[in-house]
Amino acid sequence: MRDVYIVSAVRTPGCRRAKGAFAQTRPESLLAHILDAAVKKIKFDVSAIDDVMIGCAFPEAEQGLNIGRIAAQMAGFPDSVSGAVVNRFCASGLESIAISAMRIAMGWSEVTMAGGLESMSVVPMGGNMPRPHPDWSRKNPDVYISMGITAENVANRYKITREMQDEFAYHSNMKAAEAQEKGFFTEIVPTPAEKFVLKDGKWEKETFMQSIDDGVRKETTIDGLKKLKPAFSSTGSVTAGNSSQTTDGAAASVLMSEEAVKKYGVKPLVKFKMYTVAGCKADEMGVGPAYAVPKLLKMAGLKASDIGIWELNEAFASQAIYSAQQIGIDDKKNWAADSASRCINVSGGAIALGHPLGCTGSKLAATIVANMQRLGKKYGVESMCIGGGMGAAALFELCD
Ligand SMILES: CC(C)(COP(=O)(O)OP(=O)(O)OC[C@H]1O[C@@H](n2cnc3c(N)ncnc32)[C@H](O)[C@@H]1OP(=O)(O)O)[C@@H](O)C(=O)NCCC(=O)NCCS
Repeated sequence: MRDVYIVSAVRTPGCRRAKGAFAQTRPESLLAHILDAAVKKIKFDVSAIDDVMIGCAFPEAEQGLNIGRIAAQMAGFPDSVSGAVVNRFCASGLESIAISAMRIAMGWSEVTMAGGLESMSVVPMGGNMPRPHPDWSRKNPDVYISMGITAENVANRYKITREMQDEFAYHSNMKAAEAQEKGFFTEIVPTPAEKFVLKDGKWEKETFMQSIDDGVRKETTIDGLKKLKPAFSSTGSVTAGNSSQTTDGAAASVLMSEEAVKKYGVKPLVKFKMYTVAGCKADEMGVGPAYAVPKLLKMAGLKASDIGIWELNEAFASQAIYSAQQIGIDDKKNWAADSASRCINVSGGAIALGHPLGCTGSKLAATIVANMQRLGKKYGVESMCIGGGMGAAALFELCD
């Protein structure tokens, strides 16, 4: 199989569902903008792109039909550039990179694009019209249950206390605030946002540029987190403060073979080395990375200690902490904001930055690539849990 290089990886800011900058922006516009931005970062012949694969967790309504093809056209790509959509819930944006990478590895393509999109403002989690199978779901409700309840199950079963969750959430916000202040989010592309304002009795559309993730709470304190009520179960420990935020955003990457890298004279950023998924119990879906990461490391012949940097999606603090424990990387020095040797979610995670479901896999890829470049880490692993009971994990290797 051939090596696969990521030569461009960018994302829009992540903005709060309903309350944030993209609440009134069409998802197609976010995606078209970021596809265009990904290709503009480098110089190559856009007509060479052989397919645009987009991850989306609820591909319906405004982000429905074939959003991969629609956004490719809206980005101004020639008619010859095809597009499609893939759904693996929270890993959709990573699945899209894996599928695009496999085409190159197999020798079927020289240049591909991958990305992810979710407007949780426009299409709610669960979709507009969920239709669980009536008989099967009565006997097997787990595959449809609230993600928050799965996080409570993980906390209860594996003794991840409220204190542990709140502490982890506090550090996520502190790391994100520091990264914003120091300008570490170099993968973000300022993105046009739209809002409707009433002027002289008429609604008018206004456009403004959004450059930062608008959910980061730098004023977070442990005391403030402690005071929040449980969000999913009155006796539980999972709150708005230690859960991922619901978010709007899009992200995109350009992938090339070695031949294409040479032909276009572009600088390869990382190799996309490997990807895997693993199943687990649906009612504790958050433990997915505890299965997917060891599977990935075994395939790669690496140990957890060989990995210099991790993007472990923070769907919920409970599942992120438990997954880190099982992988053997839960030592506080690995994730604390005040630790110089931190290697997990070094610029904060979804608790602070948001988790735009189908976008997240591509968003975290853009972030890990930027951080691998900045910190000079040879190996990076991205992993997330997936609704229905799964985990996904991918390995990246820094190019010289
Ligand atoms: C938990 C959840 C229901 C909360 O939804 P929400 O009420 O819209 O959440 P918000 O982020 O607006 O926070 C609500 C309030 O909690 C408080 N809060 C949140 N984080 C806080 C923090 N770090 N410190 C202090 N207060 C905080 C604030 O008062 C906040 O309101 P405000 O920021 O508008 O003032 C929602 O975030 C959720 O469902 N998350 C999980 C998503 C999910 O399941 N994804 C898939 C995973 S597989």
